[in-house]
Amino acid sequence: MLVALDVPSLDEAEALLGRLEGILTGCKIGSQLFTAAGPAAIEAARKRGFRVFLDLKFHDIPNTVAAAVREATRLGVFMLNIHASGGLAMACAAAEAAMKAAGDFGIPRPLCLGVTVLTSLDRKALQREVGVPTSVAAHVLHLAGLAQAAGLDGCVASPQEISLLRLAMGQEWVIVTPGIRPAVSDRRSSPLPPDDQVRIATPRRALAAGANYLVVGRPISGAADPAAAATAIVDELRWP
Ligand code: C5P
Repeated sequence: MLVALDVPSLDEAEALLGRLEGILTGCKIGSQLFTAAGPAAIEAARKRGFRVFLDLKFHDIPNTVAAAVREATRLGVFMLNIHASGGLAMACAAAEAAMKAAGDFGIPRPLCLGVTVLTSLDRKALQREVGVPTSVAAHVLHLAGLAQAAGLDGCVASPQEISLLRLAMGQEWVIVTPGIRPAVSDRRSSPLPPDDQVRIATPRRALAAGANYLVVGRPISGAADPAAAATAIVDELRWP
């Protein structure tokens, strides 16, 4: 399980990580924190023993994406992502860059994921705004197939897409799932902000459906006691 460090400063990231040390071992750093604090955020997390998923969703010409993936690899992240909709050449460039950089720097190759269809897009938006005439599920499968053909390791998937992808992509395919909401959450002591996640699942359901990694943000970061909230989710996963 990875905690999403969706906070605006390095100080706040450090504070959250400090409370979660010994409970969780992985975190996700996205556009907000990376734009605010840069590589120092990755360094701070790694110093505390957290593995880092760098969620910057690269999407550019192949040469630029390859260069960005090289730098992310140099920073020692264990997982990163790109937009699969950038096309086969871009996805191939990312996969090759991760491999080459890991060799050059003598460090493990990060897992490279493709982002398929953003969960904020429904069928109507996908068709009318993006110009893709198929269903969301069909496009997710199409882009996951492209990512696999390019040599990527897996994809980010909403809880609703996990089973479909596990079936279509095989057991080795890495599936990372956000939109996790614990079954037991005390909303009085840990009020969540108004929630924009529509497609959600409990941690156990997401794992049972075939997810490899769960990303949890506000249920932990928005809790009055993040350590207690994270512990409760970890315990929930251990229920017989
Ligand atoms: O707070 P919450 O648990 O909803 O956080 C989920 C995290 O996963 C956020 O960092 C969000 O940006 C990210 N994410 C998502 N949906 C995606 C991809 C990433 O919610 N499709």
